[in-house]
Amino acid sequence: MKVLVTGGAGYIGSVVASQLVEAGHETVVLDDLSKGHREAVPEGTRLLQGNLLDTGFTRQTLSESFDGVLHFAALSLVGESVEKPEIYYRNNVCGTLNLLEAMREAGTGKLVFSSTAAVYGEPEEVPIQESAPTLPTNPYGSSKLAVDRLIGAVCGARGLAATSLRYFNVAGASGRFGEDHHPETHLIPLVLRAAAEGSSVKIFGTDYPTRDGTAVRDYIHVEDLGRAHLLALEAAGPGEHSVYNLGNGAGFSVREVVEAARRVTGQSIDAVEAPRRAGDPPTLVASSEKIQADLGWKPEKPELETMISDAWTWMCDHPNGYG
Ligand code: UFG
Repeated sequence: MKVLVTGGAGYIGSVVASQLVEAGHETVVLDDLSKGHREAVPEGTRLLQGNLLDTGFTRQTLSESFDGVLHFAALSLVGESVEKPEIYYRNNVCGTLNLLEAMREAGTGKLVFSSTAAVYGEPEEVPIQESAPTLPTNPYGSSKLAVDRLIGAVCGARGLAATSLRYFNVAGASGRFGEDHHPETHLIPLVLRAAAEGSSVKIFGTDYPTRDGTAVRDYIHVEDLGRAHLLALEAAGPGEHSVYNLGNGAGFSVREVVEAARRVTGQSIDAVEAPRRAGDPPTLVASSEKIQADLGWKPEKPELETMISDAWTWMCDHPNGYG
């Protein structure tokens, strides 16, 4: 297939783009490099630098006749979205709208969209199934939910074949591809940075209704997450919009992540208790039974220590990130 990967210079997009190349797909990366890195664009792909909010550029790009699009390009920080809701809606919703319109004009039939666990808000039942109510507690989650609904409507109206993959907490690295955000806000890279620099990491909230008072998340290896995209791309049928959660079905608290990182790195890692971070739900754990049953997906690297160890190896090999 000939595929376009929006956000293919970012953490997850670059891993998936490299998996696509490896699987023999002709792969083109669209990225404005505002968050992504030129050095992260995989070998064997072509980079088109630009932003989906630029309708002329988006139309021009899609006119190349792609069989499918994998759409990662988005803003994705919960805390930032609480402070700047407008830019989250503009980038995530308007950007996707431009993409969908350009796909329609060009007759592109398949889409795999990066949705998020944040659409569920504070779920009443854990593990979370796809049928759970969607009640996001922050603008990041609401903007992604708006896109999920838009895609569903376009599938019904125009026969698009689409899959929304609702990611839980993605971690780890894959060969030369790793996590390099500016600013970094994610727990595992920050814990590892504290290990590398001998500095401390903050634990945001110690009064959550969880086993040790800290927030619980479901961590999934970026390579396992990536493989789900390739399966989704093959499986989607015209007029269908499938929605799948992607996690391991096991949750780890912030304290447990810090403990695991101490074991992996052999460093003591100072952890300092701090107030809750705005917009954070106490517990997010996925049921991934649906994607396992429908697409035969199965995590190959479900252990938290493997994810932390792969991230640690990448960080040690890339002390300045992509630099
Ligand atoms: N945390 C800390 N200290 C830190 C950083 C994070 O205690 O220095 C805590 C957070 O408060 C949260 C947990 O660690 O409770 C995980 O935080 P991350 O920032 O690593 O990840 P989030 O759960 O906030 O968000 C991630 C993605 C979202 C996605 C969500 C779904 O960034 O896009 O997972 O679970 F929606």
